Amino acid sequence: MSISIQRESGEYLYHQVVSMVLEMQRSGSLRAGDKLPSLRGLSTKLDVSVPTVRQAYIELERQGVISARPKSGYFLKAKILEVAAPKKARPPCKPKLVERQSLIEDVFDAIHAPGFIPFGVANPSAAYSSDKALARAMRRVLSRAGAKAVECGPIDGFFPLKRQLALRYIDCGMQVDPEEVMITNGGQEAIAIALQCVAKAGDVIAVESPTYFGVLELIESLGMMALEIPLCSERGLSMKDLQSALDKHCVSACVFSSSISNPLGSSMSDQRREALVGLLEARNIPLIEDDVYGDLYFGKQRGRPAKAFSRKGLVLTCSSFSKTAAPGYRIGWLLPGKYQARANLMKRALSCSSPLLNQWALSEFMASGEYERNLRMLRSVLQKNKQKAIASISQWFPDGTRISDPKGGGVLWVELPRSNDGTELFHKALGHNISITPGALFSPSDKFKHCIRLSYGIDWSGKIEDGIKTLGSLVVP
Ligand SMILES: Cc1ncc(COP(=O)(O)O)c(C=O)c1O
Repeated sequence: MSISIQRESGEYLYHQVVSMVLEMQRSGSLRAGDKLPSLRGLSTKLDVSVPTVRQAYIELERQGVISARPKSGYFLKAKILEVAAPKKARPPCKPKLVERQSLIEDVFDAIHAPGFIPFGVANPSAAYSSDKALARAMRRVLSRAGAKAVECGPIDGFFPLKRQLALRYIDCGMQVDPEEVMITNGGQEAIAIALQCVAKAGDVIAVESPTYFGVLELIESLGMMALEIPLCSERGLSMKDLQSALDKHCVSACVFSSSISNPLGSSMSDQRREALVGLLEARNIPLIEDDVYGDLYFGKQRGRPAKAFSRKGLVLTCSSFSKTAAPGYRIGWLLPGKYQARANLMKRALSCSSPLLNQWALSEFMASGEYERNLRMLRSVLQKNKQKAIASISQWFPDGTRISDPKGGGVLWVELPRSNDGTELFHKALGHNISITPGALFSPSDKFKHCIRLSYGIDWSGKIEDGIKTLGSLVVP
């Protein structure tokens, strides 16, 4: 530390020590989690008494800047966050035609650029890769498959995988017949099929606001309209706003992620989810449940899927292995409820079947128990990464920044001071080899232009921390 005490200044010595630590925090020479010098070490260095340094540390602790850990010393805390959760979006106005495809295309090209710090890519399984365990499963499959290795599987999927998935739902309190499970090419195809089972061009689809841009892209390409329902980062969907939207508009279906949403990471309690299904089924409105993040919860246990509360078969559950194990395998699934016959027809028309070897390897991966083990590790790594990301953003981003506190998943939603434009920041960040996802992608309206989504589902390192520091320097205070 290049610091010194000005004895002639008349300012209390302990005040000067406090100011020094605050300045080191501001300049970044001390980062969240760093250990401060010992009382004796700093007193010798500054030529002040140990009680003076102790008084300074007590004051810094009182201000919430540092914390004492028994037998370890004092550590710099993450700056107290203005995370008072991002503000809830305004209530819905009118259904909107979606026009986001060209922006999505620009962003998609850039966020996958090799060598970039990938804050824009939401592949949380990268934080704890299952590549080796899956490769072992695939080798076992190949040694047995013979000529089957190059064959097409059944339209609705490889039965052993359907069976493994059905078995897993028992833990969520659901009885699922393997024959009810349809294997798809990722969660995206599951949502595409589900949408085409329940709605047609011109229909209004209620979506969360903000919502995953892939859903908006589907709605746009199918010529449907989106009606935004505000999402609260703590409790999930606003039931009051949903009810009033349903009273005003003729909604053909809803696409909601009530377990863990993307980008907010919000989650509804089982009780509220049950009320949601009750409300929709009373009006005969199908619910497409996008559950791709459902297994990446940070709480004690997984919430029950909305489907568990369905009485009329109007809930279509979509999920996938992309977030939990293997985004490149492109394997997802759909529980189509009462729309099974139509879903089969759509699957045949769209892609005939999904890659057999990938399904086979995943069924081995599940049956061996390795999938479950991997999931436990992945959840734990993601939770730690989330804390590191929040600490780092709160240190390097200007005051007025608000950050979500996700209940699961691998992304943070960051609301920047209003003078910022997330799409401009996206372009500036590209110049520093950093990818982010601009907030404009997550809504058909302009509500989230000053927001960005950042992924923490990555292999966290000093380089990543530096990326956050650089990004923070590009944000206008
Ligand atoms: C909320 C959400 N739903 C669906 C998908 C699509 O999943 P998949 O990659 O399996 O097609 C994604 C992917 O990012 C997502 O974030």
